[in-house]
Amino acid sequence: MKSDRKKYRNISIENRIELIEKLFIMHPSFERCFNTIKECHEHSKLSVEPLCALITGEPGVGKTTLCEKYEKMYPRVELEEKTKVPVLVARIPVPATPKNMVTALLSALGDPLADKGTTYSKTLRLFNLLRQCQVEIIIIDEFHHVIDGDSDKVLYTVSDWLKQLINEAKLPIILVGLPHSIKILEANPQLKRRFAMREELSNFKWVKGKGSKRDDNHEETDTDEETASTPETESDNDFKAFLKILDETLPLADNSHLAGAPIAYRIWKATSGNVNRTMKLVRYAAKSALKSSEEKVTNELLKRAYERIFSEDSSKNPFV
Ligand SMILES: Nc1ncnc2c1ncn2[C@@H]1O[C@H](COP(=O)(O)OP(=O)(O)OP(=O)(O)O)[C@@H](O)[C@H]1O
Ligand SMILES: [Mg+2]
Repeated sequence: MKSDRKKYRNISIENRIELIEKLFIMHPSFERCFNTIKECHEHSKLSVEPLCALITGEPGVGKTTLCEKYEKMYPRVELEEKTKVPVLVARIPVPATPKNMVTALLSALGDPLADKGTTYSKTLRLFNLLRQCQVEIIIIDEFHHVIDGDSDKVLYTVSDWLKQLINEAKLPIILVGLPHSIKILEANPQLKRRFAMREELSNFKWVKGKGSKRDDNHEETDTDEETASTPETESDNDFKAFLKILDETLPLADNSHLAGAPIAYRIWKATSGNVNRTMKLVRYAAKSALKSSEEKVTNELLKRAYERIFSEDSSKNPFV
């Protein structure tokens, strides 16, 4: 790996920045969710009753990325008379109404007249198009929008419309949303029954040493950093394993030892193990490294990155 990454010296900074923007890490919980979607997808090819799943996760854990990655695995095929769309990804619009919902699905299918017609006529058109485009699975992101933001009430007309979609289209449906999405299923037993499969994408927890697992809400003390400096293997700690892959994937000529002590723990403190925050921080620091002709991410670069992008928390900069 060491000699291999020296090749990056021959790639322009612009191209390397582009690579940094496109970095993607297939980490274990992402893979588990990905495989659940795949299982529902495969199952429906052999069975009449579709398998559906609900995938939840806090903001920035990678839910939309998951939908996009799955869609990319099964790209659309342009044929002369139609477009084959094996995986249809749409998101619940705001305000969530059956009419807006069907418009969102029609437009994701490429219908140029997606917003024309009554809810009833558009729904019929949608069922027709799903067959014509040979859709095999539907993934619906932002499922929590079925809870009205102002009143905090579940919008039954939308959840009933979704139930109708499952019944009529007979396709596996994957709902993806924030953790409180679960309330929508709790409020509609008929919908709940169809979503027995559940998965969660979560923030990485910090695991201290072998066997002692603590959640990310615990109060850390200075000793956490000391303990974090004790040599542990990356396999003890999923966050370190994530940082190790990230480090190996960075288009820089040198290793940054992001998974080593005490950097790994500082990154976790700075990001609470959230993938979005971690990627934002490391991407920013890696781009700064390139701009100052450095070939690795250092504590100093992470400190400055934190100051710039998480300025609201600057008093707690863990890299100082
Ligand atoms: N596995 C991953 N590898 C690399 N980057 C990732 C990964 N997962 C997420 N990200 C990064 O985190 C950012 C946020 O991810 P994403 O939008 O998928 O989160 P989300 O869970 O949908 O958030 P929200 O609940 O706010 O919609 C993305 O822009 C992407 O850059
Ligand atoms: Mg999202």
